[in-house]
Amino acid sequence: MKPVKVGLLGLGTVGCGTVRVLARNADEIQRRAGRGIRIVSASARDMTRPRDCDLQGIALTADAYAVVDDPAIQIVLELIGGIELARELVLRAIDNGKHVVTANKALIALHGNEIFAHASKRGVTVAFEAAVGGGIPIIKAIREALAGNTIEWLAGIINGTGNFILTEMRDKGRDFADVLAEAQRLGYAEADPTFDVEGIDAAHKLTILASIAFGIPLQFERVYTEGIARISREDVVNAAELGYRIKHLGIARRRAEGIELRVHPTLVPHRRLLANVDGVMNAVLVRADAVGPTLYYGPGAGAEPTASAVVADLVDVTRALTVDPTNRVPHLAFQPDALADVPV
Ligand code: NDP
Ligand code: HSE
Repeated sequence: MKPVKVGLLGLGTVGCGTVRVLARNADEIQRRAGRGIRIVSASARDMTRPRDCDLQGIALTADAYAVVDDPAIQIVLELIGGIELARELVLRAIDNGKHVVTANKALIALHGNEIFAHASKRGVTVAFEAAVGGGIPIIKAIREALAGNTIEWLAGIINGTGNFILTEMRDKGRDFADVLAEAQRLGYAEADPTFDVEGIDAAHKLTILASIAFGIPLQFERVYTEGIARISREDVVNAAELGYRIKHLGIARRRAEGIELRVHPTLVPHRRLLANVDGVMNAVLVRADAVGPTLYYGPGAGAEPTASAVVADLVDVTRALTVDPTNRVPHLAFQPDALADVPV
């Protein structure tokens, strides 16, 4: 069977990481997906820039619309980030009957309700495992592995940049700004790093997790959001001396009045599991009625950890296309046609 044809939007940290992983593990991926997965075209802003991946055999263009309008392409991989252009491109790809894989949590948290409704009408999949927790398969875990449970609450460290900053300030006494600059060099931070340090990125991710865990629409505006920008080295060191770690947590909890959603810095006693999640690592604790507590841990950002999740989605979509074209990958845990606000 011929390989599935993918059009890639974005050749930055995650885009190039994905090109590398697809090439390196091509045989394994083909075996799991039922056929090969081939990136046939790719777009970025500046096509003269050297890239961190081998683009031989991939048609390159600065025109992202040429990729989403190409009739040969079956899956559009959106890795440009940002909101408005990404939304336009994803909706257009769906209109063109293409499946979409994205790592863009801002896009899903703010426009997911519209995008999934659109995709359902058009009969295509929008997959977004990489949008939360980098390489941790947290979306699949909650949506699929915990599908038989009532979820009571979840709490986690869901921004790698912020956790890296807090860890380096505590362990090495480094300055906030200096560590943030390193996180940017390492490709962990968002294009606008205020999303990381003001808690906005974590709030986007919590919005998505809560939607899947509790079957509620995406409601970013209902998340209480506070970041780590005002935490100093002294705060982190003083907390450690008192037996605590300052961790930026995202918390979603079922309450009688509705679902509580919040992201903020928290003092966590140093023996707790989440207190010992350091550096760029993320972890999400989920408490569910049948299974009890489960913990999901792994790299929360970075090129290849994120590519791992992106490629998993490409494999899912390809397998569904190959084995049973009607067996689409599920979006969220609610019916997009029957959206009703749930009090938060
Ligand atoms: P980068 O900034 O490294 O890469 C973005 C790419 O998109 C670049 O190649 C850029 O082109 C291209 N691009 C940006 N704007 C435009 C535009 N207007 N038109 C055409 N191309 C454009 O971002 P990342 O790879 O880090 O992130 C991509 C997505 O993945 C984001 O949604 C991010 O939130 C998400 N994500 C990132 C993770 C990470 O660890 N970095 C982890 C999980 C999710 P050019 O190179 O020419 O400037
Ligand atoms: N900027 C994000 C983070 C990337 O640091 O967690 C992964 O979503």
